[in-house]
Amino acid sequence: AMMPLATWLAGYIRDVPDHPYPGVLFKDYASLLADPRAFTALVDALADVCRHREATMVVGLEARGFLLGAPVAVRSGLGLAVIRKSGKLPGRAFRRVYELEYGTDEFELQCDALRPKDRVVVVDDVLATGGTALAAASLVSEAGADVVGVAFMLELVALSGRRRLARDLDGVPVDAV
Ligand code: PRP
Repeated sequence: AMMPLATWLAGYIRDVPDHPYPGVLFKDYASLLADPRAFTALVDALADVCRHREATMVVGLEARGFLLGAPVAVRSGLGLAVIRKSGKLPGRAFRRVYELEYGTDEFELQCDALRPKDRVVVVDDVLATGGTALAAASLVSEAGADVVGVAFMLELVALSGRRRLARDLDGVPVDAV
């Protein structure tokens, strides 16, 4: 019998407690990326989200969001814009400080990375508290584009990130493969 996609892909993900800091549950999906059939199936599922949302651009988040955002953009026939940790992007950039499970970080998006009519799907690997995705969505909005979806490989349901995104992004669909 055919296994559901999520069940099959979950078999490639290994839980590493207390990494990189005590209390944080790290999801190690190196073996998913290493398996071309699993990696392709994941990218295809995320590309389906972009198609359903009629996206015109994909935005990938440093660092692990790049691993998925770039192939999803190519698979979708869309361009990619990157949100990077502060200090990496040249030229004018919008900036957001955001909170993580462990401390704070700072994201930037180049001011000319998106066009005002762009329909953006933000792609990242893991939805935990939702702080990262909210900062990213806020940067996309500041750049004048529309966030039409947020798509993750994996959602840590216990951290209620989806509820936070539903509240703060009011109505933007959140998908987790
Ligand atoms: C991880 C993950 C998400 C974020 C989710 O990234 O890749 O981007 O945390 O957490 P949140 O929903 O609580 O905001 P991390 O900040 O560890 O950075 P990295 O991708 O550069 O390793």
